[in-house]
Amino acid sequence: MANYPPDQNFSDKKVALGISGGIACYKAAEVLRGLQRAGCAVRVAMTKRACEFVQPLTFRALSGSHVIVDDYAPDNPDPIAHITFSQTVDLLLIAPATANIIAKFANGVADDFLTSTYLAATAPVLIAPAMNTTMWQHPATQRNLEILRSDGVRILEPDAGEMACGTIGPGRLSEPERIVSMALDILSTQSVARDLVGERLLITVGATREEIDPVRFISNRSSGRMGFALAAAAQQRGAEVTVVAGVTTVDPPPKVTLVSGHSAAEMHAAVLTEIPKASIFIAAAAVADYRPATRVVNKIKKSDEQLVLTLERTADILGEVAANRHDKLLVIGFAAETNDVLHHAREKLRQKNLDLLVANDVTQDGAGFDTQTNVITILSRASDEALELPRMSKLDAAHRILDEIVRLRRQQTNSLSATSRGQQ
Ligand code: CTP
Repeated sequence: MANYPPDQNFSDKKVALGISGGIACYKAAEVLRGLQRAGCAVRVAMTKRACEFVQPLTFRALSGSHVIVDDYAPDNPDPIAHITFSQTVDLLLIAPATANIIAKFANGVADDFLTSTYLAATAPVLIAPAMNTTMWQHPATQRNLEILRSDGVRILEPDAGEMACGTIGPGRLSEPERIVSMALDILSTQSVARDLVGERLLITVGATREEIDPVRFISNRSSGRMGFALAAAAQQRGAEVTVVAGVTTVDPPPKVTLVSGHSAAEMHAAVLTEIPKASIFIAAAAVADYRPATRVVNKIKKSDEQLVLTLERTADILGEVAANRHDKLLVIGFAAETNDVLHHAREKLRQKNLDLLVANDVTQDGAGFDTQTNVITILSRASDEALELPRMSKLDAAHRILDEIVRLRRQQTNSLSATSRGQQ
């Protein structure tokens, strides 16, 4: 996340701050001030319930403009305020977001100003939930959050701690500094650089599935989120992207070329076909290292005997691509580790002859397989320093990895042109 206060100036950015009704409403004033300190212009909308916790006058005084609660109110100067309010801003931020507003957003209910604003929003949306722990943990709330995530809403999860109601657990509004920091992060990545134009990225994504018999297989917990985030981010930055997808539990980004490679052998074959066209290869898939030595044709019947499964090694796709690379191909691998992360990662970078290795300690909270976030360390062949990054969304992590790829490409181009100047 961005440093707080940020070095960057956000004076060209407009934020719509929506406040829904909970005890944490008073903290929204600090969020507003933090955004203003960074240079953002902030307009505020409140739900009727929020006004019972804090008067709109507070936010009117701080923001210097009318606070919209009800767009049908006679004092509202704009007859289509929910459209102008939501479509002329760079970010819609809801802090605090109650269980009720989350449920309404997830289900497309538009029965007041804030919910209509959400439905009409064209800007990215960030929500900072705050509620009682039991409400937060309720399957209905978690289901609604999952819907919002898949709709592209960014969620800053609440902190754990003592709540106003006396219970202890997750549900407390994230600190205003963190909310501001994440909002600024989103605002700063909006103007994404088109620094991968001309690059052709080939990326493996997801888990492989190794069949034992017609109904059973060996696989792993990879969802494909990190790989798809990389594919989406690279495409945003101008690369042509081909994804060789194993088994994934999330949808691929639109507009990438998809090739399927469900088993390690199919993925291997697909990569060998596609690699001549690539200028960057990223191995983000969790490829099985072993597969059953034989696939049994008919379903294996149980008996009282022990069943011994003989496994054989699969081809190391990443190792093979790196060993046979042409000069300009950049090769990036992943390493999921549980101990001595840096040591194992450094070894893997060297042994496999990679340009970058993205390591994660899968034992850490919010890292690794099937999570929305990741905690990564990037190692580069060009530097002895490891770039250790804090927990962040997989999309943000993807952009950080691509930043390093761009940096390596620039170094490579500079050294090639220095060599050719030297030869003249
Ligand atoms: N990989 C691959 N083909 C395989 C296995 C892994 O391309 N058959 C790639 C993965 O996509 C990932 C990297 O290699 O980028 C992981 O390296 P690997 O040495 O296989 O890691 P682990 O399986 O975790 O190795 P180890 O068990 O030795 O820790």
